Amino acid sequence: MAEIGHDINHAKEVLESGGLVAIPTETVYGLAGNALDSAVVTNIFNAKKRPSFDPLIVHVSSLDQAKEFVLEVPKEAEALASRFWPGPLTILLKRKSSIPDIVTSGLDTVAIRVPAHGLTHQLLKSLDFPLAAPSANPFGYVSPTTASHVDQQLGHEVDYILDGGPCSVGIESTIVSFESEMPKVLRLGGLSVEDIEEVIGEVEVNIHSSSKPDAPGMLKSHYAPKTEIVISDDLNPEFRKGTKGMGALVFDEYFDGISLENQFVLSETGDMNEAASRLFTGLRTLDQRPDITTIVTKFVPNIGLGRAINDRIKRATAKE
Ligand code: TXA
Ligand code: MG
Repeated sequence: MAEIGHDINHAKEVLESGGLVAIPTETVYGLAGNALDSAVVTNIFNAKKRPSFDPLIVHVSSLDQAKEFVLEVPKEAEALASRFWPGPLTILLKRKSSIPDIVTSGLDTVAIRVPAHGLTHQLLKSLDFPLAAPSANPFGYVSPTTASHVDQQLGHEVDYILDGGPCSVGIESTIVSFESEMPKVLRLGGLSVEDIEEVIGEVEVNIHSSSKPDAPGMLKSHYAPKTEIVISDDLNPEFRKGTKGMGALVFDEYFDGISLENQFVLSETGDMNEAASRLFTGLRTLDQRPDITTIVTKFVPNIGLGRAINDRIKRATAKE
């Protein structure tokens, strides 16, 4: 169990002395440390048991601060950052050598974003270095959207948890790359493709589900609860009927044949943003019920944040 509180000054002291602090953002909680200190970044990888080929996002307080660490900002990147920062957008830019190799797993681009959370924004402004922060979960598991999610799994690995309440967006940032002619979305996330295209026109959506994806963290199986989770279409209908031990993660309508107390509804009113904000809590809640042995779920409508939700559902239900 870690110390949990709202004390920005304490968080700052811990970070300045090379420690790790879990920080709230609008997307998910991050496991943060000084991005310019390789030894600290190594500790982040170790705490998460994250493979070293999977680079981290660098968090800054403004677009101006981001510019200190990159060689150039393409026009479209600047347009997106100006419009959506602070917010759930991560952009990949050519890095300067001040960003250590370990942060980017040796890639020549660095992932950067300005998170939209009051406490973390103040913290970032008070520090004279940026924060490297992956989601604060053990590698491969569901991302944390409350301080207590972090404490349950990584409490023993962090020096302090800055509690900023539940994350308002609840799903990780959207990652955009500008390496090819047309900007490319490498991870669907809390900023919808529709919103991005409104500002910079058409983008390519290129999210791999493979063991060697473009965004190295986009492995086929990720965000996975420990309990078996299946898409309802893949279920044998006989198996589903009245089966004990069955739980369900549903969008706005209950499943027939599964007791209501075993079902987690993402949004009673069918609000996609609310559904996104409750997705990881839903997965965790069902995962922690010892009487539930199989979770059944369904894809949501593929619009707005629905695309990112469906991406997480695909990875959570992937078999490898
Ligand atoms: O919302 C978020 O983005 C949260 C909060 C804490 O900011 N962070 C987060 O970090 O989701 P993480 O480490 O769980 O996911 C970062 C993703 C990984 O898939 C990683 O492979 C990708 O970003 N990434 C980082 N640097 C990259 C780079 N230079 N090129 C391609 N992908 C990169
Ligand atoms: Mg993650």
